[in-house]
Amino acid sequence: MVTDTEAIGIFSVIRERRSVRNYTDREVPDEALRAIIAAGIQAPTALGLQPWQFVVTRDRDLMRRASDYCKPILAEKIGEESRPGTEEFLTALKDPGFSIFYNAPVLVLVLGAREALSSVLDCTLCAENMMLAAWALGIGSCWIGSATLIEQNPEILAALKVPDDHQIVAPLIFGYPALLSPKPARREPRITWVL
Ligand SMILES: Cc1cc2nc3c(=O)[nH]c(=O)nc-3n(C[C@H](O)[C@H](O)[C@H](O)COP(=O)(O)O)c2cc1C
Repeated sequence: MVTDTEAIGIFSVIRERRSVRNYTDREVPDEALRAIIAAGIQAPTALGLQPWQFVVTRDRDLMRRASDYCKPILAEKIGEESRPGTEEFLTALKDPGFSIFYNAPVLVLVLGAREALSSVLDCTLCAENMMLAAWALGIGSCWIGSATLIEQNPEILAALKVPDDHQIVAPLIFGYPALLSPKPARREPRITWVL
């Protein structure tokens, strides 16, 4: 069990974590990434299968290629939906200098074994652990769901060494925050107490 002080720390990390979209150039050390992954794999998994693998890349050219591949596909999708609030992102996607990875120094793909029934759920829990652990170490993160589009590009998948029998569940960027946006407010949870 954890002590009261540890519990306060855990709640503070959960409360304060936010998605970071503006990073310094400072590299995230290997040891920090290993610690983040070590926290990730503490997540519960259905049947205890632990159906994950991780790809870590600092290859900025590869990240740019992946981003450049995803951007027009995303722009088209978002254009079709034309929901309020998407205009800013749509404009960014049309900017050649914009990266869907926000120029983060490192990208970690949490891969889930296709044969495991609950690997998407398991890897999602793992990913949240990783983002919380990163925050506890002063490292920002953001889940880049748009990057799962690279599943459609065999060359990029091969360059990232994603095995055929695994799918990309959580593309996570990590880095030291240059700027923190305010944390989006949470709606009051609707709780039904059945007592
Ligand atoms: C499944 C998933 C996909 C996401 N994809 C993106 C994305 O492609 N780009 C991005 O900037 N943020 C992405 N996010 C981050 C969310 O926008 C962010 O978590 C949400 O706005 C709440 O903000 P917070 O994380 O700061 O609390 C994603 C989050 C999740 C859980």
